Amino acid sequence: MPRSSVSRSNSRRGLQRAAAGIGAALLFSAPAAAGEARVVPPDAVARTEGTSVISIRDAAQDFARNCAGCHGHTGVSVPQVPALKDRVGYFLHTPEGRRFVVQVPGVAMNVLDDARLAAVLNWMLRTYSAAQLPPDFRPYTADEVGALRRTPLSQVIPARAAVVDGLLKASVIERESDLGFYAFSQLP
Ligand code: HEC
Repeated sequence: MPRSSVSRSNSRRGLQRAAAGIGAALLFSAPAAAGEARVVPPDAVARTEGTSVISIRDAAQDFARNCAGCHGHTGVSVPQVPALKDRVGYFLHTPEGRRFVVQVPGVAMNVLDDARLAAVLNWMLRTYSAAQLPPDFRPYTADEVGALRRTPLSQVIPARAAVVDGLLKASVIERESDLGFYAFSQLP
């Protein structure tokens, strides 16, 4: 047998042993720390790094499944999608802004039911924009979300402009850009 194929089959055996070892390690290893459960994806053996992902639950999971594809898991995404990070909390300073956050189409028409949507909004506000929330922030309730989402906005840009105007007048923000460059308002 030529030398190269011997060493190939040796290295294949080596790989099989390594894979078995990793399998055993996966079976018997406990999660890294209590409360910080980690799951190992099935293709772990094929990867050289990043073999564990943090499992997320409840509102964080609902956000990941229903919102983060567009808004990003850090609350910042492509320029065409408004950033939530360090911004979205400003809207909660006025009644119009509070309504706007529920009535944007991606929120109002989401598949989540009222209670889970309210939980996602409260999670989003506290996770990405706690510093911008009013001190007397009242979390959304399922009833409030259920009532508001019945009338989704069909004209988001003018509605948002009116809300931003109200926030400027109330001195919640100092300039329009505090709520970010809004890509869609630049489109014809
Ligand atoms: C399909 C992509 C998409 C999904 C899914 C989506 N959004 Fe959005 N979101 C947008 C876009 C685009 C806008 C800009 C307004 C518009 O044109 O609808 C927006 C606007 C917003 C705004 C207003 C921000 C601002 O500064 O005007 C909030 C708040 C928001 N989304 C939250 C959410 C939440 C929470 C979810 C999940 C329940 C979600 N979105 C799901 C794309 C999405």
